Amino acid sequence: MQYLHAALTETIMLYPAVPVDPKICFSDDTLPDGFSVKKGDMVCYLPYAMGRTKFIWGDDAEEYKPERWLDGDGFFRQENPFKFTAFQAGQRICLGKEFDYRQMKIFSAVLLHYFVFKLSDDKKAINYRTMINLHINGGLHVRVFRRQGN
Ligand code: HEM
Repeated sequence: MQYLHAALTETIMLYPAVPVDPKICFSDDTLPDGFSVKKGDMVCYLPYAMGRTKFIWGDDAEEYKPERWLDGDGFFRQENPFKFTAFQAGQRICLGKEFDYRQMKIFSAVLLHYFVFKLSDDKKAINYRTMINLHINGGLHVRVFRRQGN
């Protein structure tokens, strides 16, 4: 399911479950770019912003474009996790990543096969609640229709 894997990855890049991930410095340190931090400082990386940054992804960064993840033969192309940071990177990368893709694929394949989802009110503005997980303010209300022929 190469295209579905790409579509889910693109979705997580634009709408990461953890949009901002804070860390606290245990000691004074100097970051690789020369920036100094003090013990107790908070340093955050921002998967939400990084996933929409033109400098990182090109001019079409804010477009929903699963194809960016596919090579010329339609196979999913992994990105460096320090570039696609929605699951964090390095030794503390999300342990549930593969399990999570499997769950998302099973749910998408089954639900989208049988049902069509539409926003209850497509005129209503969709805003986020700023917190460690990406929440939609007031929830995202949808109507579910049985797909024709299923
Ligand atoms: C789209 C779904 C998910 C996303 C975007 C995601 C993202 C992340 C992120 C950003 C972290 C790093 C948090 C931090 O230490 O600052 C993390 C850690 C972790 N995640 Fe996930 N996660 C997802 C689903 C899951 C699932 C389904 C599981 C378990 C079945 C899971 C298990 C874990 C565990 C155990 C850690 C801690 C790893 C460690 O600190 O060594 N995650 N995840």
